[in-house]
Amino acid sequence: MNEQLKGFFNEYRKLIDARLPSYIEDLRAPDTLKQAMTYSLKAGGKRVRPLLLLATLDGFNRPIEDGFDLACAIEMIHTYSLIHDDLPAMDDDDTRRGQPTNHKVYGEAMAILAGDALLTYSFELITSMSAVREEPAKALTLVRELAKASGPCGMVGGQVADIEGENRSLTVQELADIHHHKTGDLLAYSIIAGAVLADASEEDLEHLRMFAIELGLLFQIKDDILDVEGDSDKLGKPVGSDDGNNKSTYPSLLGLDEAKKMLDVHTMKAKEHLEAVKMDRTLLLALTDYVAGRDH
Ligand code: IPE
Ligand code: IPE
Ligand code: MG
Ligand code: MG
Ligand code: MG
Repeated sequence: MNEQLKGFFNEYRKLIDARLPSYIEDLRAPDTLKQAMTYSLKAGGKRVRPLLLLATLDGFNRPIEDGFDLACAIEMIHTYSLIHDDLPAMDDDDTRRGQPTNHKVYGEAMAILAGDALLTYSFELITSMSAVREEPAKALTLVRELAKASGPCGMVGGQVADIEGENRSLTVQELADIHHHKTGDLLAYSIIAGAVLADASEEDLEHLRMFAIELGLLFQIKDDILDVEGDSDKLGKPVGSDDGNNKSTYPSLLGLDEAKKMLDVHTMKAKEHLEAVKMDRTLLLALTDYVAGRDH
C-alpha cells in the first residue's frame, strides 16, 4: 500500500473507530438497543466510506475535522445495511466483521431495530453537526442526497433488485444497475458529500460523481470476486454466500477471469474521471487501487 495512504489509514481509522461508539453512549435510549447498535459499529470494518469522505476533503485542502460527523453518519447507515443484509430473510449469514452477526447475538427483532435506529440516528447527527450550523442550505443538500443514496432509488432499491435477481440470469447491464444502487450510491455519496462540504465547483463535482460511480461499481465487483476466491478469516464474513443464495454476480455471470477483467476496466475508467478533477488527487487515487486490490 502507498505510504501516504498507510499513514492516512493509521491515523483516521483509529479516530473513526473511537468516535463511532461515542455518539451512541450518550443517547437516552434502551440499553439493549444501544448495546446492539454499538456491537456492530465496534466490530470493525474497513471504514472505506468515511475514509473516502475525509480523503476528498483533504484533497480540497479543507480541515479533515469538518467531515467527521458526516463520515460517521454514513458509516452508521452502512452498518445498518449490513445488519439487515445478514438477516435470515435476506442473505442469512452468520458472521460479519469477524464476529457473529447481530441477529445471532441479539435476536432478529433487536437486530432489525438496531438497524432502524442506526439509520434514523444518522440523520439526526447530520442536522446537528457544527460544520454546517451556519449553512442550512448545505445541510439540506447533504441530507437530501444521503436520503436518495440510501433510500428506495438508491441502496434499498438495489437490495430489492438483488433479491429479485436471485435464481435468474441477468444481463451485465442489469447487474451493473443493481451494483450501482445497492453499493455504488452510498459509496459515491461519501465522495460527493466531501466535495459539497469543501464547496467544490460544479465542474469538479460532475467529474467526481463519474469517478465515484465507477468506484462504487468496482467495489462491488471486487466484493463478488472475494465471495468466490477470498479467505473467510481475512474477510470476516463467509465466502460462497452468493452461490448459496443463487445470486447474480459478476463471477456467476461472466466467470472469474472475465469478472477480473471488468474490475480492471472500471478501475481504469474511475482513474480517468479522477484525472479531470482540480484537487490533490493522491489519496483518492491510492484508495482506488486499495479498493481494487484488497483481500478483505
Ligand atoms: C460490504 O461492505 C458490503 C458491500 C456493500 C459490498 P464493506 O466491504 O465496506 O464492509 P466493511 O464495512 O469493511 O465491513
Ligand atoms: C450488500 O451486498 C450490499 C449492501 C447494501 C449491504 P452483499 O450482500 O454482497 O454484501 P456482503 O458480501 O454480505 O458484505
Ligand atoms: Mg446481500
Ligand atoms: Mg450479503
Ligand atoms: Mg458480497
